[in-house]
Amino acid sequence: MSSVHPIVLAIETSCDETAVAILRGNELLASEVASQTEHQAYGGVVPEIASRNHLLHAPHLLESAVKKAGIELGEVDAFAATAGPGLASSLMIGASIAKGLALGFAKPYLAINHLEGHLLSPFFTGDFEIEPNVSLIVSGGHTLLVDVRGANEYRILGRTVDDAAGEAFDKVAKMLSLGYPGGPEIERCALSGDAARFDFPRSMLDSGDHNFSFSGLKTAVRYQIAKLAAISDDIRHDLCASFQRAVVEVLVKKTLRAARECGAKLVTVSGGVSCNRVLRDQMSDACNRAGVKLLTAVPELCTDNAAMIAFAASLRLNAGFESDVTQEIDPNLALA
Ligand code: KG4
Ligand code: ZN
Repeated sequence: MSSVHPIVLAIETSCDETAVAILRGNELLASEVASQTEHQAYGGVVPEIASRNHLLHAPHLLESAVKKAGIELGEVDAFAATAGPGLASSLMIGASIAKGLALGFAKPYLAINHLEGHLLSPFFTGDFEIEPNVSLIVSGGHTLLVDVRGANEYRILGRTVDDAAGEAFDKVAKMLSLGYPGGPEIERCALSGDAARFDFPRSMLDSGDHNFSFSGLKTAVRYQIAKLAAISDDIRHDLCASFQRAVVEVLVKKTLRAARECGAKLVTVSGGVSCNRVLRDQMSDACNRAGVKLLTAVPELCTDNAAMIAFAASLRLNAGFESDVTQEIDPNLALA
């Protein structure tokens, strides 16, 4: 290592965000993200377009990250990339670049699980100590409750049986002709809405397990829209607020129940949906009432980024782990 605080460069290309970050110790030297808007017209991420864009964006993001960090590529102590879960043709790009750099500079390579990146992101500003917690990972692709005993000690408690919460936000936004990604659009639209106007289902709230389901809620919104003669701005605001309240209520109640069952003193929430102010506020109130601490990541680290991958890689590097460059990407890579 070139210093007591190793420099880690990480690349994230699991879906449609191309991201490069450079971390020295817990000091974030650079975090570059290029989002792709081309998919909007297709109503979902097109793998072929995503991978072409990763190839296009990665070189200049690498260049600008290194420039912003004020370092030379040769000073990097380890190269990391997201190895899964995600789209195979997207994962391949970031992993191939990181492996090439690791081989070229004769430095370690670290294959990182995208979900572990999200899960650890609330600890980013801390001192690399991962306290036991119950973690809610809530994004466009995943809704997962995890019993975290420490870094790399994970037990899945439950997950969505159909749509992810973020996916439901995106689909409902589309029904209401709002933009993509739908989460921030719905949150904005809900601001002046009446959350009690429509009584949408809280699916699996009392299922007795830690799983989620958001597909029925999405369908209930669709039926409600079909029943309404016209969608005025006021109705749109109320639909968004009522939908958001239903999602948030289920996420908060089921997370707190899991925390209680596991005897957790800390709850963490990560992933794109954890940018949502209503979710953050309600989770915070519920944790206060239950006497449990809450840790969330700063909003820039909630949506897909490479800083969280660099952080997870640093923790692994400090613990003496590295991956073999022959390690393949795995679109279905499991967290535990
Ligand atoms: O973590 P992320 O960037 O990507 C995945 O790993 O999936 O999460 C993206 C998801 C999208 O579904 C987006 O609509 C949702 O996070 N999202 C939000 C908010 N900001 C992003 N959902 C609700 N409220 C928000 N403010
Ligand atoms: Zn993600």
